[in-house]
Amino acid sequence: MGFYENDQKYVMNTYNKTPIEIVDGEGVYVTDIQGHRYLDMFGGIAVNVLGHKNKKILDAVNCQASRYIHLSNYFASEPTVQLAKLLVENTFAEKVFFTNSGTEANEAAIKIGRKYGRSISPDKTKILSADNSFHGRTCGSLAITGQKKYQEPFEPLLPNVYNFEFNNIESFKRVVDDQVCAVFIEAIQGEGGIVEVKETFMQEVKALSIQHDFLLIVDEIQAGIGRTGKFLSYENYGITPDVVTLAKALGGGFPIGAVLTGEKASSVLKPGDHGTTFGPNPVVSAVGCVVVNEVLNETFLSEVHDKGCYIKNKIENLKKQYPDIISEIRGTGLMLGINTGKYAGPIKEMAFERKMLLNVTAGDIVRIVPALNITYDEINQFIATFTDILAEVAQQK
Ligand SMILES: Cc1ncc(COP(=O)(O)O)c(C=O)c1O
Repeated sequence: MGFYENDQKYVMNTYNKTPIEIVDGEGVYVTDIQGHRYLDMFGGIAVNVLGHKNKKILDAVNCQASRYIHLSNYFASEPTVQLAKLLVENTFAEKVFFTNSGTEANEAAIKIGRKYGRSISPDKTKILSADNSFHGRTCGSLAITGQKKYQEPFEPLLPNVYNFEFNNIESFKRVVDDQVCAVFIEAIQGEGGIVEVKETFMQEVKALSIQHDFLLIVDEIQAGIGRTGKFLSYENYGITPDVVTLAKALGGGFPIGAVLTGEKASSVLKPGDHGTTFGPNPVVSAVGCVVVNEVLNETFLSEVHDKGCYIKNKIENLKKQYPDIISEIRGTGLMLGINTGKYAGPIKEMAFERKMLLNVTAGDIVRIVPALNITYDEINQFIATFTDILAEVAQQK
């Protein structure tokens, strides 16, 4: 019996897994047990930012693992301090709290928001988040995720959370008041289907955060670490947040999350208020330093932007050719969504038959989140395969 069958037998089925047995990876390719090579446009869901088997990552793992693997948060760890310093020196942040995943970063941010509010007034505990947002699966993060389908089976969740319509300032104004302690927002909604915030909306929310004294918390778990062509995605909208949450790409494939805090939020948590045994693992911190140093390179970020524009142009041309299949291409940098409506599922399957891994989100959006160091040749391979698939879909219609 292959390990895919054993996965179905022994691993709890919370994801509908693709029937493939991957045994190796290199750059933007993975190889299955039969030796078939697949172009990986899935990118581990926006995680494998430097691709598979990156030499600098492997060296960092070997180097740190041969010193020590875990100490606990009662001792300063050199790679972790280095990573915190890099994040502080290159963003709005003054301090960093590390976690092991995205949802844990949001849990910590929720606690920071609540404690911040209660330090001003005992009833300043209201949290706002957007309809269609996604902030994670643990109970706090789930409570601020603006999608009923994920929440309902687990209710009752954290109280005093309200949603506003994304990009609708009138809707936001209906729920905001002085009792709000924190607002969570993704600059580009990822799971929600690659929906970008409007600059004016973001700026008005920022202005209201000053007026009502709440923490503006930008969830950069999917859009951060270079994915949009900026180091952090909020830089695209001319605002400075109070808190940013990170995960996914930060560990280049290893689990890590982080909460970055600015002036308003950096001293909210005191010893004993919050903690984690594992976060962050020193080996992962060492990898995080590699990732951040690579991504922060000026050329790297401008290339992400240019590659995004290149793909968008190509898909816009395909949209002209196949207007009944592609209704929209949206997103920034290498965080792109192609709205293919009811064809998204079949397109994903046809891509698999053609040895290309594609991800579909929100039911109808083909989500393009490959490694950020994907080459133009590899992008052209993606475009050629995608074009071929569209021709087949058009023929079958
Ligand atoms: C914007 C956003 N926030 C939070 C999360 C949760 O992160 P994790 O799966 O690491 O808990 C995700 C995961 O997809 C995400 O995209």
